[in-house]
Amino acid sequence: MCGIVGILGTEPVAAHLVDALKRLEYRGYDSAGVATLDHGKLGRRRAKGKLSALDKRLDQEPLPGNVGIGHTRWATHGRPTEDNAHPHATDRVAVVHNGIIENFRELREKLIAEGCKFTSETDTEVVAHLVTQELKRGKTPMEAVSASLKQLRGAFALAFLFAGEDDLLIGARRGSPLAIGYGRGEMYLGSDAIALAPFTDTVSYLEDGDWVVLTRKTVQVRDANDKLVERPTIKSMASAMLVDKGNHKHFMAKEIHEQPEVVGHTLAHYIDMVHERVALPSEMPFDWKKLKRLSISACGTAFYAGLVAKYWFERFAKLPVEIDIASEFRYRDAPLEEGDLAIFISQSGETADTLASLRYAKEHKLHVLSVVNVPTSTIARDSDVVMPTLAGPEIGVASTKAFTCQLAVLACLAIAAGRARGELSEADEQKLVHALIEVPRLMTQALTLEPQIEKLAVELSKTRDVLYLGRGTSFPIALEGALKLKEISYIHAEGYAAGELKHGPIALIDEKMPVIVIAPHDRVFDKTVSNMQEVAARGGRIILVTDPKGSQESTIDSAHTLTLPEMASTVTPLVYAVPVQLMAYHTAAVIGTDVDQPRNLAKSVTVE
Ligand code: F6R
Repeated sequence: MCGIVGILGTEPVAAHLVDALKRLEYRGYDSAGVATLDHGKLGRRRAKGKLSALDKRLDQEPLPGNVGIGHTRWATHGRPTEDNAHPHATDRVAVVHNGIIENFRELREKLIAEGCKFTSETDTEVVAHLVTQELKRGKTPMEAVSASLKQLRGAFALAFLFAGEDDLLIGARRGSPLAIGYGRGEMYLGSDAIALAPFTDTVSYLEDGDWVVLTRKTVQVRDANDKLVERPTIKSMASAMLVDKGNHKHFMAKEIHEQPEVVGHTLAHYIDMVHERVALPSEMPFDWKKLKRLSISACGTAFYAGLVAKYWFERFAKLPVEIDIASEFRYRDAPLEEGDLAIFISQSGETADTLASLRYAKEHKLHVLSVVNVPTSTIARDSDVVMPTLAGPEIGVASTKAFTCQLAVLACLAIAAGRARGELSEADEQKLVHALIEVPRLMTQALTLEPQIEKLAVELSKTRDVLYLGRGTSFPIALEGALKLKEISYIHAEGYAAGELKHGPIALIDEKMPVIVIAPHDRVFDKTVSNMQEVAARGGRIILVTDPKGSQESTIDSAHTLTLPEMASTVTPLVYAVPVQLMAYHTAAVIGTDVDQPRNLAKSVTVE
């Protein structure tokens, strides 16, 4: 994750920008930079490494100016060098950016053909040139930003500073968060309220697709269609807390909404975006080709991430996978072969059952790889290889963003295995990686289903039981949907492989029973439709989660259809997780349970 800050101040801002960046350092710290405007001219200081390096740079070469932007970076496109550090600038505009510009390659080629000279490997630099080209065509800064935003694809947040415009900052949000801070005669932009806490506690949050034009006295927010909109100001509690809820009622809601951003950052850690290849950050101490079997163990939601991964490893790498609930693994005396690989998945990295399984695998001389969200955790420390998920702190007890980040890491790992074992060609890899790069944007689109899901949740909140069905990689998403709903709303829910319905659970179906069917239009779609028919014939109320093709081709009357965009079938688990999480969240919110700390549960389960 990168951190963004902007200040329209009444005194020199460089030191204040660095102060704010220090509070955002948890988001990234491989390089940092600030840009300010001095007598209308853009000036920039950037440095590789932690913020202290930038501080030193500013001591040696101070940067005057009362308006400026700053950035702390977590490398995505391009290595952590000074050239790749933000702000990126031309002589007309400087920009800081958090997120991924999906179509930067096409834009870069187009801009190079127009004569633009690039000095970095980043996707961000295309934004600076794009806006500059629009300015050169005679557009105002506002018009230039509006025209440029329409050409960008991806999930991101941006802040712009313009040469000659001493009373202007522009910010934009699509997928990644951006807050506006209101000071006395000053205005601010920040990735979160924590960054702005030293200056103000009055903030408002841009909604997805919004962009804002700030002067010292005015704030104009526009939506994605450039229509002026109002975004309420709230009093932030950020100064008192390290992690705040933003403008969400619960941490769980905030964490669901953070997914485009954190999944993007996680993917960027494992993918070479320029060449659309998987680039694992660490060497594997084993040869993928020599593995006979992969064993995966985890608990709860992390187990379901492993279940999705089983489909991927078997399909992409033709590697047989055994998957266990961690509490079962070491007691069933499974024959294990020395030198094989065991993967352990855990958000906290402290789950006792998972840790015990890991130690059991080590005793049997398996290579141990963990996918964890807390890199200092015991599971991470005890592993041969650690593949971190970059979800940031997950506060809500029900896991959401950690789950989709686990899927992101596991997808990359399965592709790497497929390549190493000769089962995927370079072109196959590119196709799979390309689909993954689109996930943050697809997740942002999935989040737009929220108003529809809120209405549906009122209905769900009145039921006692809910069934979830899915086939293929949608089966684990059905299991995850049921787990999410039961743990936070206390409504009884079960997930089933859709084909299993007729082997028992069909007896439960009556006109009161909601049946949530996760069915993207993939190669098993027709089979799932047959299973839906079995439900419909018995009067069950179907809630179908599908895509435009699926909703067109399903001949069954569903009580509700949630339509997600078309996407490659390999990435559906990451995107379909979003509506499933929102259904559970809003149902629990209607019922009024303690969403972030549901009864009887703990975030880190350190007992067996
Ligand atoms: C459910 C949930 C739990 C955890 C499980 C494993 O929403 O959060 O099922 O997934 O307790 O925890 P970690 O991932 O910390 O090992």
